[in-house]
Amino acid sequence: MIETPFKERFGTPRQPSLVPSSWGILRLRRDLNLFGSLEGLEGFSHAWLVFVFHENQNKMVRAKIHPPRLEGEKIGLVATRTPHRPNPIGLSAVKIEKVEDKAVYFSGVDLVDGTPILDLKPYLPSSDCLPNAAAGWTSTRAERQITVAFSAQALQDLVRLTADRAVRFRAAIQEVLELDPRPVFYRGTPENPNPYTDVYGFRFDNLNVVYRMIETRAEVLEIQPWSEREEATRR
Ligand SMILES: C[S@@+](CC[C@H](N)C(=O)[O-])C[C@H]1O[C@@H](n2cnc3c(N)ncnc32)[C@H](O)[C@@H]1O
Repeated sequence: MIETPFKERFGTPRQPSLVPSSWGILRLRRDLNLFGSLEGLEGFSHAWLVFVFHENQNKMVRAKIHPPRLEGEKIGLVATRTPHRPNPIGLSAVKIEKVEDKAVYFSGVDLVDGTPILDLKPYLPSSDCLPNAAAGWTSTRAERQITVAFSAQALQDLVRLTADRAVRFRAAIQEVLELDPRPVFYRGTPENPNPYTDVYGFRFDNLNVVYRMIETRAEVLEIQPWSEREEATRR
């Protein structure tokens, strides 16, 4: 399984490389006796991860689904990268940052923490990169862009809670929010662009990121240790 800062599906990027500052660590399992299998991987810049969508909760798979980019329209499931497939297997091309004897470090991941990895294969530009490929319905639908601001409180919280990793955490949180992780129905319509002015929270690593949405602007209000949120919920 892979270790990532995305502890829940909400806030996990919809594709790899959309949040380039995210990270993932894959450690070789001792019992598989694969010591030496990572030798040579360091020469590749990217790899394919083949994995199981182990956190799918839908009991039924539907033939047509609503991808977020279609803002309410439906399309056949195999024309999408939805996690809800007859065989819940995912495929992500991620950047290799570092290869050690028993672990590989990635960036630009779109997987929930603890996702079981079925295989890792090098990305081969000579056969995997197809510059003339047609992108179907996705070529006409750009991802929506959100502007993100951090309050002075949130920036202080970040430095206090993440110390020398604050710059990386800030970049990753910003990249997550720029993509508007909320389900489509929260986004409103041109006539009513801001139906939900609520304060939202999402878990990133061991943090609870609290933010507010005003139309296409997200403001991070504060950042708390996740443990404090859990304690408050128990009370
Ligand atoms: C649209 S899928 C794309 C995944 C992969 N790049 C693919 O195309 O097969 C990405 C979304 O799957 C969900 N996801 C990621 N890891 C998951 C897991 N282990 N179980 C269930 N859902 C997961 C998250 O909500 C994430 O935003």
